Amino acid sequence: MTVDIESKLKETRVFYPSKEFSSKAHVKSMEEYEELWKRSIENPEEFWSEIASELFWFEEPKEILVWNEPFAEWFKGGITNISYNCLDRHLETARKNKAAIIWEGEPGDQRTFTYQQLHREVCRFANGLKSLGVEKGDRVCLYMPMIPELAIAMLGCARIGAPHSIVFGGFSAEALKDRINDVGAKIVICADQGWRRGKHVPLKANTDEAIKNCPTIEKNIVVKRVGESVDWNDGKDIWWHDLIDGQSGVCEVTPVESNHPLFILYTSGSTGKPKGVQHSTGGYMVGTYHTTKLVFDIKEEDTYWCTADIGWVTGHSYIVYGPLANGATSVMFEGAPNHPHEGRFWELVEKYRINTFYTAPTAIRAFMRWGEQHPKKFDLSSLRLLGTVGEPINPEAWIWYHKNIGRENCPIVDTWWQTETGCIMISPLPGATPTKPGSCTRPLPGVNPEIVNESGEVVPLGSGGRLVIKQPWPAMLQTLYNDDERYKQAYWSQIPHKYYAGDSARTDEDGYFWIMGRLDDVLNVAGHRLGTMEIESAIVAHPKVAEAAVVGMKDDLTGEAVCAFVTLKMGIEPGDEIIKELKAHVDKEIGAIARPKRLIFTEALPKTRSGKIMRRLLKSIANGEVASGDTSTLEDHGVLKNLTDLASGQDQD
Ligand code: WT7
Repeated sequence: MTVDIESKLKETRVFYPSKEFSSKAHVKSMEEYEELWKRSIENPEEFWSEIASELFWFEEPKEILVWNEPFAEWFKGGITNISYNCLDRHLETARKNKAAIIWEGEPGDQRTFTYQQLHREVCRFANGLKSLGVEKGDRVCLYMPMIPELAIAMLGCARIGAPHSIVFGGFSAEALKDRINDVGAKIVICADQGWRRGKHVPLKANTDEAIKNCPTIEKNIVVKRVGESVDWNDGKDIWWHDLIDGQSGVCEVTPVESNHPLFILYTSGSTGKPKGVQHSTGGYMVGTYHTTKLVFDIKEEDTYWCTADIGWVTGHSYIVYGPLANGATSVMFEGAPNHPHEGRFWELVEKYRINTFYTAPTAIRAFMRWGEQHPKKFDLSSLRLLGTVGEPINPEAWIWYHKNIGRENCPIVDTWWQTETGCIMISPLPGATPTKPGSCTRPLPGVNPEIVNESGEVVPLGSGGRLVIKQPWPAMLQTLYNDDERYKQAYWSQIPHKYYAGDSARTDEDGYFWIMGRLDDVLNVAGHRLGTMEIESAIVAHPKVAEAAVVGMKDDLTGEAVCAFVTLKMGIEPGDEIIKELKAHVDKEIGAIARPKRLIFTEALPKTRSGKIMRRLLKSIANGEVASGDTSTLEDHGVLKNLTDLASGQDQD
């Protein structure tokens, strides 16, 4: 038995949910949790079928799971629609006039939609889409700011069975073009511009540039958000407000089979091309509904805020679909946490009396850096539950969050999951699970993870290894868009018969999971996955670059930051000019999130005799460590020495 990953972190503090919290929670104790978990794993079909029956189906599923490894069909034969479950289902109840979405824009403007109002807007927009000839199965690409129209567009697409593909508004025209073309979208939806810290993001201009090279795009629907004039293309562009003008506020939903795709969302992998993660309707709906209810312990009276951008999966599952399927009130915010001041988030908590707050460790580290005086200025007494997602949270940040935001009075749910898993997989249940800072604790009901070594053998307790999931779950990805082979290869080939998450982790004596990080060539920058290959391809595409290798370096704020080792073409001199040029180039090719924080120029990269770049060594150098370990395959040891000297001499930022 080999143990191939060593774990260093040891944390001994334990925090118990208060009696008061537990007594009102959906799951009230560890005994209750254990029983639920056991039943869900021994009898998954019965378990998931009970949960599915809390939602609306035009026709009941014929089979709960058809498992053709690695392809799952959940709730096969079941006919439903997630837009119906998020909206129409509530209209016959007291939720009709309850706030579904409370929105605040960056400049401070506010809009609130009751379930009834949201339903009407979604119907008008869905009718607008139909008027453009959009049919069930057509793909629609959304490249929008965090405005209500984004949620309306998602629910409108879902209503007529048109899978959406959302591209984060921080991505470049180039990245947008690739994603539109991969998915073959017929329609793109953008805004004139977006707000970002008082500045304008040129969403329409980027879209114009992208769709010059997108032959499948027939129309570009443009929301007027900022109001400055934009270039207009009469044949293609249509204002959102003109499209919905005169449309009926009633639009019958298109019933879809449970395995009809709801959306595609691109995420980074270890090869250059982003992966189009495809999610189903029924399974995804059941998964997000159930986890929102259990993990956020959602109650009728809650005001819940997830600070993510809808351009990432967190926003899909926990701003829109999960909360609305539960009939909850979901707060949506367009702005940044430090604009116009570093207390903006806490101002919102006070103003809307938010009681459930879900954010990312990188944001918490930023709050720590800005100082506790900011949250202190606001009344945070409404808060009852806090959550985190995106990367392992360092215990120091956990404790800061607990003290300064939770006032030592709120359970913290550290939720582990992925774009691919669709919903939260490992997390405390706030009324039941004692928490340990830095651990995402125990698997949710219906989730069966374990830690194995390279050969797939279960590692002894406490040892590190590869995190795998042993049983299919409803919200799991269906496949990678148009690429079943890559789906099999990426998730089901490393460890036979188990889903391979690509994370390293360990468990402790209480069966708690501690996630240690990624195993593949993927960086986690501010809770977002970036493929090193993708960034390398972008850098190498620059005419002055001969070769590049990208690795992650530790960063206090973002967790990891991008460090690029670059060999320039003959005759090109390294210096500030080229640093600027390359950073701007990455912004343009992918987006600012992928911009290297540090560029190290070198005459040569360390390679094996067969010509493979030894990234492991570069990673050590980037992190100021001695490049140790096995260097026997290194071709030229001189390169390593030069690089180590260079790295200590070329400081930036
Ligand atoms: C990767 C997934 C799921 C929404 C946000 C990111 C890391 C995520 C945690 C956590 C430790 C975490 C993993 C995972 N990750 N949550 N609570 N503790 N690591 O979605 O872009 O698909 O990234 O984020 O490495 O594999 P994503």
